[in-house]
Amino acid sequence: METSKRLIIDTDTAGDDVTSLLFGLLWPGVRVEAITTVMGNIPVEQCTANALLTVERAGRSGQVPVYRGCDRPLLRPLVQAAYVHGADGMGDSGFPPPAIQAEAEHAANAIVRLVNESPGELEIVAHGPLTNLAVAYMLDPSIAGKIKRLWVMGGSCHFRGNITPTAEFNFYVDPESARIVFEGGFPITMVGWDVCCRYALVGGNDLEALKAIDTPIARFYHQVNRKALAFNLANGLEGVTHPDSVTIAMCLRPELIVRSGRYRVEIECQSEANRGFSAVDTRPAPENTPAWTGAGPNAEVVLEADYRLFYRMLTAVLQGDFGAFSNN
Ligand code: BDR
Ligand code: CA
Repeated sequence: METSKRLIIDTDTAGDDVTSLLFGLLWPGVRVEAITTVMGNIPVEQCTANALLTVERAGRSGQVPVYRGCDRPLLRPLVQAAYVHGADGMGDSGFPPPAIQAEAEHAANAIVRLVNESPGELEIVAHGPLTNLAVAYMLDPSIAGKIKRLWVMGGSCHFRGNITPTAEFNFYVDPESARIVFEGGFPITMVGWDVCCRYALVGGNDLEALKAIDTPIARFYHQVNRKALAFNLANGLEGVTHPDSVTIAMCLRPELIVRSGRYRVEIECQSEANRGFSAVDTRPAPENTPAWTGAGPNAEVVLEADYRLFYRMLTAVLQGDFGAFSNN
């Protein structure tokens, strides 16, 4: 099939980040130009090993370069989520180390280079704290205008957070980087925790049906997500959450987005209680007041998605059967 999408996937590879990589690596017509890793769920060394292992499991060894990125947020001490995904980020699976290796170039340098080599061509799908993107932007602010689209899994629109009552994990871990990116003029689509909980939570009979798929990729998917599933069930979410994979699925199939709007998104960096909160200004006509400068929209924010289409796409990836998507 002809290549229709050229992607860079930026990932703190654990749990659903792995599922997203499988979408990118296996979906027909997609060329993953680079996987860039960043600390987040777990330390960056482990994220990098997990990304390399996923490339191997997808049968793409030697075809997709993996670049190790930032090992800490810009200003804050590192906060991680091994309590969700296991110490290895892979459901405490004890996988052997990957046989393939990461590239020598730093992820932020790779992003700058690749974007400049193909201006207007690449889409970046960001699944972790936005540190690599912020550093890449500081190295070369012109990249913001050369990226076709930046898909950001992060924040939350008028909904609860996950790591705190108000903040979603990726923005909480490195709020300064999120702010730099959201103020940098990138063509952003934001997919928040709200959308992921409402339209990408797979449980009940749907999850049972996925468990019945007997392929190596499906078994790998269930294994790496098993800790996160147990964590969710203990914390009131009845299934596997797919924040990262629903984001890449929207990039591959934009019709997955049922409703969205262009809004101003501000990332909270001053308050400790609301650190990393994403304030999305959904007012139809924001008033100009002394307290509001009237800054214009900086992101397309997804508000509703098509769960059934996402589920069909996930099933196709796990089955390795994309026939239902071949003609449209
Ligand atoms: C985000 O945090 C990570 O644990 C997930 O992979 C996702 O990117 C959700 O808050
Ligand atoms: Ca992630």
